[in-house]
Amino acid sequence: MKITITKNEREFDVTAAWRIIGQMLEKPDSVIGLSTGQTTINMLAIVSEIHTKYPFDVSRITLFNVDELTNLPREYSGSCYTMILNQIVGPLGISEENFIMPPTMSNDFESEAKLFEQKLAARGGADLQMLGLGANGHIGINQPGTPFESETWVSPMDPDFEARVRRETKVPDDVILGGLTRGIKNIMHTRKLILVVKGAHKAEMVKKAVLGPVTTDIPASVVQLHPNCEVLLDADAASKLGNLENYRP
Ligand code: GLP
Repeated sequence: MKITITKNEREFDVTAAWRIIGQMLEKPDSVIGLSTGQTTINMLAIVSEIHTKYPFDVSRITLFNVDELTNLPREYSGSCYTMILNQIVGPLGISEENFIMPPTMSNDFESEAKLFEQKLAARGGADLQMLGLGANGHIGINQPGTPFESETWVSPMDPDFEARVRRETKVPDDVILGGLTRGIKNIMHTRKLILVVKGAHKAEMVKKAVLGPVTTDIPASVVQLHPNCEVLLDADAASKLGNLENYRP
C-alpha cells in the first residue's frame, strides 16, 4: 500500500483529479469506478475543467459509481446517478452506454446487482476504483461487520449516514432508504484502488484503516491487503498517522 500525503486540500483535489485523468490517458478504454460525497466533488470538477481546457479522448472510457441509493427516483438530486452525471459524465460528454449504474428503483435488486457486475465484467472488469471513507470506516455502503467476501448487494445503511442522506437529499420520511453497493470482494477484485480521504474529522478513522488490524469492524482496513492500492490523504486526514518512517507496506 502506498500512502500519499498532500500539503493541503487543494493539492489533494488536484492530485486525485490527475490520478483519474492519468488512468484515462494511460488506458483509453478504462473502466473507472467513482465515489460520491464531499471528498470527491472538487476532484471531479477539476477533471471536468481540465478536459474542457485540454480535451482528450474519452469516447471509450466507462464510468460507474461504487454505490447507489435505492428507493429514490434516479433524477433525484441526491442519487449517485444524478451526482455523477452532473459532476463528470455530462461535462466530459461520456455516452449513456458508457455510464453504467444500477437502478435506484427495482423489485429485484439481487438480479440488478448481478447485472451491474456482469456489465463491468463484460468490459474487462474495473481498472480503477476511487473509494471514499465513511465516518465509521465504511467503503461504498458496506457497513462495519460486512464480510470481506460480500458481493454487490443492498446494504443496510448506518443510522448516521442515513440521517445525513435524508438531510442532504430531503427524502420524505416514509421512503425506506437502502444502498446498493459493490461488495468488498468486488472492490478487492478491481485492478487498482485509491482510498481518498480529506479532513481532520476522518484522521482517527484513517489511522485505524491504514495502520490498525485488518478487520471487518473497519471495512476500509481491507485495502491493506490489496496489491495495488494507494491511500491519498490531505495533511489533516493524515494528522494522526504519526511518524511513517517505520511504516512497512
Ligand atoms: C457515502 C458514500 C460513499 C462515500 C462516503 C464518504 O458513504 N456512499 O461512497 O465514500 O459517503 O462521503 P464524504 O466524502 O461526503 O465524507
